[in-house]
Parts: sequence; structure tokens; C-alpha cells
Amino acid sequence: MKITINEINGEYTNIEGALVVFSPKNKEGYEFRPPAAQLDEAMNGALKKAADTSNFKGSFGQMVEVLAPTGVAASRILLVGLGDMEKVTPLLSERLGGKIINKLIYSNEKKVTIVKGQLASHAAMGVLLRQYKFDKYYTTEKNVKKPSVEAVEFLTHKADLADEEFKEFEKIADGVIWARDLVTEPGNVIYPESYAAQIEDLTKLGIEVEILDEDKMEELGMESLLGVGQGSASSSLMVIMRWNGSAKKDEAPVAFIGKGVTFDTGGISLKPGAGMGDMKFDMGGSASVVGAMKAIAGRKAKANVVGVVGLVENMPSSTAQRPGDVVGTMSGQTIEVLNTDAEGRLVLADCLWYTQDTHKPKFMVDLATLTGAMMVALGQEYAGMFSNSDELCEMLNKAGQDVDELLWRMPIGDAYDKMINSDIADMKNIGGKYAGSITAAQFLHRFVNDVPWAHLDIAGTAWRQKPSDVAEKGATGYGVRLLDRLVKDNFED
Ligand code: BES
Ligand code: MN
Ligand code: ZN
Repeated sequence: MKITINEINGEYTNIEGALVVFSPKNKEGYEFRPPAAQLDEAMNGALKKAADTSNFKGSFGQMVEVLAPTGVAASRILLVGLGDMEKVTPLLSERLGGKIINKLIYSNEKKVTIVKGQLASHAAMGVLLRQYKFDKYYTTEKNVKKPSVEAVEFLTHKADLADEEFKEFEKIADGVIWARDLVTEPGNVIYPESYAAQIEDLTKLGIEVEILDEDKMEELGMESLLGVGQGSASSSLMVIMRWNGSAKKDEAPVAFIGKGVTFDTGGISLKPGAGMGDMKFDMGGSASVVGAMKAIAGRKAKANVVGVVGLVENMPSSTAQRPGDVVGTMSGQTIEVLNTDAEGRLVLADCLWYTQDTHKPKFMVDLATLTGAMMVALGQEYAGMFSNSDELCEMLNKAGQDVDELLWRMPIGDAYDKMINSDIADMKNIGGKYAGSITAAQFLHRFVNDVPWAHLDIAGTAWRQKPSDVAEKGATGYGVRLLDRLVKDNFED
């Protein structure tokens, strides 16, 4: 779908295809502004009549569609309520863009023109995010509806500026969409080797990509990560991505770390069959990281950023690790693996230690579909945030609100930390019956030294059961925009 942004010229009656115009709400009801008013006049009052007939009030997102109107060139007109004009934020504009494309994508129209005087770049971002579908595995027309819309043109004021802004948004959307693709791909397509090969494509954007294989990780003492993958026919890999965008070459990087369990069967502590297929999404944290790296490099951010992902498949087999096994870690600490299904933390333990040891970052943020308990606590609206730094939490919270990827801070502390003490090793990989997301975070905390760190448990937000205004149901790409915004607002030259 091609999206363009051009200058408004004030003439709307000759525009062909689907034409979208807005109408704000005011005290009297809805307000007819120039595009709508001009069209209405050319249509002999038919637009207003349609609006009144369908009880249109100009409320946010309300829509009236007039088909095959006479007096104008358009084949259909979509009148969309803006709500209170003063309250239209960038995020609301984005949602409007999403709502509009969702309404028209199968309409049989090839061309959509949207007249939006302000915040057009944001509305365009909404279109881009909402039009995404993962339909590559359908082979018959019976199974897949093909979108009709091929081009969306925005008409706006100061189109040059809006277009420049949108060029940057497009790079961010590339990262989001790639993350969604990776998360949606099944485990027989995305496994550590194939995943790493895809990540290597980032070199085209100027990112340095380094891959640690099993031999190298063994040398570094990463028994914890390797233990998770030892039952799989695929070999485990750690992939390190580095973007040096800052003019200050020696500036310490910010670091993002992702759980990349390409499939989580639970291992010997096997998960129940029902719903197990969902666990192809267990590399969601790593997808957020690689997607963010793509966005950051794509828009040539002036910051040094390192991304580290641990790619493993958690399988039961005769070579799989057993409940009760004790493994070492790169940090030197030992872990009693009492449940092989609590594997994400085992992967992240070595990733976190490696990152702080090797890259000396300013701070670290890890993302992981870590615990089912996170969904019990926060549902699918907020990701849980666990951190040793108020300052980092504040920055993350702000970034999350700006891009509508919300975070809710959860507690950590000594009382929870005790719950993962083991009888025979430095720690065990599960806590008790309660506070499952927190004990998982405490476990990670033991692999963080003094560096500011935040752990984001995205088990609830990486996948959605229902569509939103800006995303089809399924993989959300949650985290890509958050990390990109965090960098943009706080760490660029
Ligand atoms: N990947 C899962 C977490 C998960 C489960 C996310 C269900 C979304 C839905 C993780 O590896 C896991 O299995 N965690 C266990 C931990 C438990 C064994 C302590 C869990 O949450 O049940
Ligand atoms: Mn698991
Ligand atoms: Zn898992």
C-alpha cells in the first residue's frame, strides 16, 4: 500500500475514489467544515442529509458512508467524526487513520484520499500499522480476502513537514511490522539458525551483527542459556547487534536484551497440549529488540545502541535438561533448574551478564514473554515493569504513554528475592506459588550489577486476541515503538 502526503488545494469535488473528510463535534452537534461543506453543496445537501439520517454527532471515530454520490467525482464519501477538535492528539489521529483504513480496506476502492489538515503524518502512521495482515500462508482465494486499497493519499497543510515526519514514522513501522512477522511465523520457520540469518540482514542498514555459537558460549560459561537449548535439534545462538549512530564514538551504548525462545514446549516440564501452539510467540521480546534496532538504524538515530538476543528452542528429548539439574552461568553463580518451563530467565541470565560485562552500557532494558502470571496481574493492556532505577522507569513510562505501549511498575525487593534461594545452589529458577512474575524478575536481578536496569514482562501485550484501532489481532510488535521513543527522547546527540 502506497501512502503519500500532499498539500491541500481546497478543491474536493473532483477527487476520485474514496474520499474521507472529517467533522468535529461542537455544542450544537457536528460542525460542517470546508471539505464536508463544499462536498455537501455540490451534492445538493445529500451529505448532511445522510449525516442527520444516521444520527451522526461528530463523535470521535463515528462514520457515515455515502455511496455513489451525485455531483462529485468521488465514488464514495466517508464522513468521520473528530470528536472535540481541541482534544485531537497525535495518538488519536493515529487511531483515526487506523479506523479509516480498517473501514475501507476491502471496500473495492483502489484509491483513498483523506483530507486531514493537522497531524496527517500521525494518521498516516495509523493507516500503515492497521493495514498489516499476515496472509502469506493462504493459498486459495476462499481463505483470504484481498485488500482492494492500493494507494492512500493525505491532503494536508504544510505537507512538506508532515511528509518528512512520516518518512521517519515509516522506518519505525518497518520495525514494528518486522517484529509482527517474526512473532507470527511458526516454530518450524523461525528457529535459532533461521532467525539469526534474518537478523543478519540488519547489516544492510549499517548495524554490526555478531553471532555467538554454542562453542563460543560454552567457552564463556553460559551453561544456563545452553541448558535450555540442549534438548533441541537446533543449536542455540546469541546475536549481538550494534548501532553506532552517535557522533561521540566512545559514548557508552544503551542496551536492549530480548528473550528469543523460538518455541517453548516447556521441555521435560512439558506444557499441556491445549494452546501450546501459542508458544511460537515466546521469542516476542527478542522481536521487539530486533524490530527496534531496525527502526533506530532505519531512521539513523544519533545514538549508540546495542541489542542482544538469546535464541533457543525449549524441547523435551533424551538430551534435554532434567528438572533438578544444576547449571553454571557466565556470572559464576549456579542455578538449580527445578522447572524446565521457567526457561526464559535462564536464557536472559547469561544475556544480561554478557551485555553488562562486554558492552558496559548506560542502562539495560530486557523484554520477555516471561510469565503467565503477568497476564493474570495486568491482562493485555499494560506490560509489567520491574526495575532498580526510578529514573529509567520514568523515561520508559513517558515513552510508553507517547506511543501507546503502556507500562505498569511492579515491586521488587529482598522479601521476594529470598523466595528463589535454593537448597543446593545459589538460586532456583522458580519461586513459590505466589508472585510468579516478581520472583522471575528477582531472578533476573541477580544477574544485574550496578547498572540501571528494567525488565519488561510482555507476556500479555505481545499478542492480542482482538484487533485494536492500529493493529490486526495477533502479534502486536509491542516494544518496538517504546524502545525507539526511549532512545529518541533521551539519548540522541
Ligand atoms: N513463555 C512462558 C510464559 C507464558 C506462559 C507467557 C503463558 C504467556 C502465556 C514461560 O516460559 C513459562 O512457561 N513460564 C512459566 C513459569 C513457571 C514454570 C514458574 C509460567 O508462567 O507458567
Ligand atoms: Mn516456559
Ligand atoms: Zn517461555
